[in-house]
Amino acid sequence: MEGRKLKDMFGSEAKSGTEAEEGRNTMSQAGPVTETSSRPQGAVAPARRAKTLEAKEVNLYYGDFHAVENVSMTIEPNKVTALIGSSGCGKTTFLRSLNRMHELTPGATVKGDIELDGEDIYANGVDPVAVRGLIGMVFQQPNPFPTMSIYDNVAAGLNFNARKVSKSDKDAIVERSLRGAHLWDEVKDRLGRPGSGLSGGQQQRLCIARATAVSPEVLLMDEPCSALDPVATLAIEDLIGELKKEYTIAIVTHNMQQAARASDNTAFFNLDESGKPGHLVEIGPTDEIFTKPKKKETEDYVSGRFG
Ligand SMILES: Nc1ncnc2c1ncn2[C@@H]1O[C@H](COP(=O)(O)OP(=O)(O)OP(=O)(O)O)[C@@H](O)[C@H]1O
Ligand SMILES: [Mg+2]
Repeated sequence: MEGRKLKDMFGSEAKSGTEAEEGRNTMSQAGPVTETSSRPQGAVAPARRAKTLEAKEVNLYYGDFHAVENVSMTIEPNKVTALIGSSGCGKTTFLRSLNRMHELTPGATVKGDIELDGEDIYANGVDPVAVRGLIGMVFQQPNPFPTMSIYDNVAAGLNFNARKVSKSDKDAIVERSLRGAHLWDEVKDRLGRPGSGLSGGQQQRLCIARATAVSPEVLLMDEPCSALDPVATLAIEDLIGELKKEYTIAIVTHNMQQAARASDNTAFFNLDESGKPGHLVEIGPTDEIFTKPKKKETEDYVSGRFG
């Protein structure tokens, strides 16, 4: 797949916009799932390397409301980039634009470019559903399909694939994904039981297994630990540290210790006043943002003086 254009790999020319829309609706009817795609899927993880995600002058709107203003930043491969900033400054909105989920909100629009290794994910002919397969999302609340088994939760994305995956290949992908999410040993004897029967921390690891089962290139996480206790939080942070060996990761967090512990780079967002758009104040290596930021407002935020 190396070197091929996104458009060639996942172009939707053969598909009408309505069909693409229907695909999405089918997914949302099934429940609040990690977005997955009709990406061609092999039995074993393809040889892969993490990719760079770059936002260029991105502006995001909900109808007339300008929510995020002019953000340019690079999310580097094999690193964890933390997005921090006070409530309402646009972190979630920005994160959702990175895998074309923002446009699922009626009236929401995007200006600017977002490139995955130089390929514009918003280019004409690129299928947004496929983009969401390449750039997976893990949400704030663990959201396994409640009635599905642990096994089926992990395999859910594979089931949306156009190409049929054999049972033995699916078994291998489910095991690999659960092992990768540090959950295999805890669930291997009860794969047929409902995903909703797991603890909160286990459910979030299940969601991470579901997100990685479709072999994405980037993982976006929106406060993945906010519903978890400190022990489960540390388990997820350890896992994120492992996952970055393979993935490009962006994580929104309100927890300054978490940003300091778990990320390589930190992006600080802020807004001048309520009703104004949020913007990126600065991005840099995490230790610099926390110890010698360039901007006073960053220093005030990371030292807990506001937000
Ligand atoms: N669906 C929506 N429709 C209209 N406005 C929205 C919508 N979602 C978010 N907003 C607005 O966009 C702005 C940014 O919201 P967003 O959720 O991205 O902030 P955030 O930084 O993630 O906040 P938090 O830390 O509380 O999660 C806010 O003013 C919010 O009210
Ligand atoms: Mg948010």
